[in-house]
Amino acid sequence: MATITASVYTSHVPAIGAALDLGKTAEPYWQPVFAGYDFSKQWMKQHKPDVIFLVYNDHATAFSLEMIPTFAIGTAAEFQPADEGWGPRPVPKVIGHPDLASHIAQSVIQDDFDLTIVNKMDVDHGLTVPLSLMCGAQDPKTGAWPCPVIPFAVNVVQYPVPSGRRCYHLGKAIRKAVESYDEPLNVHIWGTGGMSHQLQGPRAGLINREWDNRFLDDLIADPETLSNKPHIEYVREAGSEGIELVMWLIARGAMSDKPPKVAHRFYHVPASNTAVGHLILENQA
Ligand code: DHB
Ligand code: FE
Repeated sequence: MATITASVYTSHVPAIGAALDLGKTAEPYWQPVFAGYDFSKQWMKQHKPDVIFLVYNDHATAFSLEMIPTFAIGTAAEFQPADEGWGPRPVPKVIGHPDLASHIAQSVIQDDFDLTIVNKMDVDHGLTVPLSLMCGAQDPKTGAWPCPVIPFAVNVVQYPVPSGRRCYHLGKAIRKAVESYDEPLNVHIWGTGGMSHQLQGPRAGLINREWDNRFLDDLIADPETLSNKPHIEYVREAGSEGIELVMWLIARGAMSDKPPKVAHRFYHVPASNTAVGHLILENQA
């Protein structure tokens, strides 16, 4: 049977991708951001998964405002990096896992979560920036990401967006789906986005260190209570784009019910307009 052994949580700031692609990682502004992922890159090599189930949000890239799925699972064999206005990022294409993705869709939909099945989709910074941070730079032509990735896009752009509670329970359904897959795959689940940030309006630039760090504490130790946090608190305390954090609850819900091992924790301000938060949690044997 397949097993979820670990979860990874990270912000997905597009400027981090640009800093990487333009060779700016050693600049004083960016160096402390990338230093927070040195451990993570080593950890990825030592704990190489067979598949990554990557929860992120599409930023009106693959889905325009004409059509907005709440939860969309990528079942394709491959996904191209999206052109977000400056040409696609120079990173390898993402290889999918159609068989596991279809199995998860079957199981989760039968468990009463309505997923949109997506057989063609370009993936934006919400997915490619976390891959770059965790796996390091890869040559777009000769390089490859370390394993197949199942993209799972969540609508946090156009209201109404799903509640933290629904996301947490969806995570549990994903765990059940993975554990009923008839092949001994080591699966990691990632949640991206956050932490506090607001990109527009009078509160643009909002950062809330105290709230972010309490969110990290609660995500580790008490995700059940955390999942009941209402949207208004995310928006009030963590800014309009802080709502991206509900996606972290999907990854956390997919973890074992036993307390996880905290392999890594990192928090840094500034990175573009966003507080960067990052956790690696391992399931205890
Ligand atoms: C920024 C952060 C995001 O999560 C995003 O999707 C776009 C921009 C930023 O901080 O600039
Ligand atoms: Fe974002």
